[in-house]
Amino acid sequence: MRQLQLLILPFLYCLFLFQTSNAHNITSLLAKHPSFSTFNHYLSLTHVAPEINRRTTITILALDNAAMSSLLSENPSVYTLKNILSLHVLLDYFDSKKLHQITNGTVLTATMFQATGSAPGSSGFINITELKGGKVGFGAEDNAGVLNAYFVKALEEIPYNISVIQITKALQSAAADAPTPGPSELNLTDKMSAHGCKVFADTLLSNPEAMGTYQDNIEGGLTVFCPLDEPMKAFLPKYKNLTAAGNTAFLEFFGIPVYQSMSMLRSNNGLMNTLATDGANNFDLTVQNDGNDVTLKTKVNTVKITGTLLDEEPVAIYTIDKVLMPSELFKAAPTPPPAPAPVEAADKGKANAAPTPEADSPDGDPADQTADNNNAAGRIEAEIFAAAGAGLSLLLGLL
Ligand SMILES: *[C@@H]1O[C@H](CO)[C@@H](O)[C@H](O)[C@H]1NC(C)=O
Ligand SMILES: *[C@@H]1O[C@H](CO)[C@@H](O)[C@H](O)[C@H]1NC(C)=O
Ligand SMILES: *[C@@H]1O[C@H](CO)[C@@H](O)[C@H](O)[C@H]1NC(C)=O
Ligand SMILES: *[C@@H]1O[C@H](CO)[C@@H](O)[C@H](O)[C@H]1NC(C)=O
Ligand SMILES: *[C@@H]1O[C@H](CO)[C@@H](O)[C@H](O)[C@H]1NC(C)=O
Ligand SMILES: *[C@@H]1O[C@H](CO)[C@@H](O)[C@H](O)[C@H]1NC(C)=O
Repeated sequence: MRQLQLLILPFLYCLFLFQTSNAHNITSLLAKHPSFSTFNHYLSLTHVAPEINRRTTITILALDNAAMSSLLSENPSVYTLKNILSLHVLLDYFDSKKLHQITNGTVLTATMFQATGSAPGSSGFINITELKGGKVGFGAEDNAGVLNAYFVKALEEIPYNISVIQITKALQSAAADAPTPGPSELNLTDKMSAHGCKVFADTLLSNPEAMGTYQDNIEGGLTVFCPLDEPMKAFLPKYKNLTAAGNTAFLEFFGIPVYQSMSMLRSNNGLMNTLATDGANNFDLTVQNDGNDVTLKTKVNTVKITGTLLDEEPVAIYTIDKVLMPSELFKAAPTPPPAPAPVEAADKGKANAAPTPEADSPDGDPADQTADNNNAAGRIEAEIFAAAGAGLSLLLGLL
């Protein structure tokens, strides 16, 4: 069954692409402008392109082939290049008209670099200033007030979804230009500790086996969902109560052995194996969209992704608002519905609750939760088969 689902997921993914192709596609927009082919190539290579396609109300500061070759002559690693290119994506819409009508002649605007969590402090903002003679200057906020690039021309304007404009050269920014360590030099726990997941990071450091599992998966692709400090701290008594093997499996449960950007997670709903998955021990979780949110579910509870702590292929780290509980270690109410049993389980759960109950307990009654999950699982499977059927007939139709 699991095997079958894995085989079918690529079909599903294709279907989602067909269904959501309403918005812009930066790759095909730039393909109309051959003198921007290098910029276009690197947007795809660094996976900045799908993040651009996912967003609206944005402005791309495009660099022509000459400006790109001078940037590339400094031999940035692909990770550094991703940061630099993300700095050239403004999270607001500026076409040529708006650029020349900025209130008070100057504005600071956020970028995708700042939004991906890679930018330290307030770096990752761009200063746009109207200058004498109709010129418009651009400079990173961490570039000592120097506006080192200028507006050249508009390439594409789709109000108010996306504007692509050319600027003279790459923006300089100490933070974005900083050599970014390759994945093998990445210190996962340092990254987590610095961004609100110190309790989880410390717990991981105290378990060499689980830590080793995470480390071994960095090079090949790894996505981590780390519980924020408050809920993780409240959960520690339950964690300490597990057996040694339970501790390791629990920690490994928060990693999946593939890289998943936010847009991939949004379009790849369904069951995912985790680092704790081991033969008969499923330790899997379900990724599911809920409006704009992405949730993770087990039969015990549901948590929400609240932020991106790091997104540099092959590693992504997201924060989650609660501790997701694997059903292999924590009991949901029994599945068959003889009424008294779930009530007992619920009461027991309440009696054992840690000091901040909302932080680690499933929202709502565990019995309802289980029923919901079972229905949801059934629905998802039905949808997968329906979709796969559609995908197959589509393919057959094409052949
Ligand atoms: C702008 O984006 C929205 C949402 O993705 C989409 O529905 C709409 O068609 C887009 N408008 C244009 C002109 O492409
Ligand atoms: C965007 O366009 C490029 C080239 O035109 C194509 O290869 C790619 O699949 C498109 N991406 C999406 C998400 O439609
Ligand atoms: C423009 O400048 C005026 C006077 O200095 C100030 O009150 C106002 O807040 C500024 N507007 C913006 C959008 O920065
Ligand atoms: C943008 O930079 C210019 C030049 O350094 C400076 O005068 C202006 O105050 C800055 N604007 C903002 C909004 O920080
Ligand atoms: C990451 O840094 C912590 C201390 O900040 C250290 O204990 C740990 O060994 C480091 N991990 C790796 C893989 O270097
Ligand atoms: C730890 O386990 C014991 C025995 O299963 C249970 O009685 C106790 O309530 C548990 N404590 C916590 C904090 O989960």
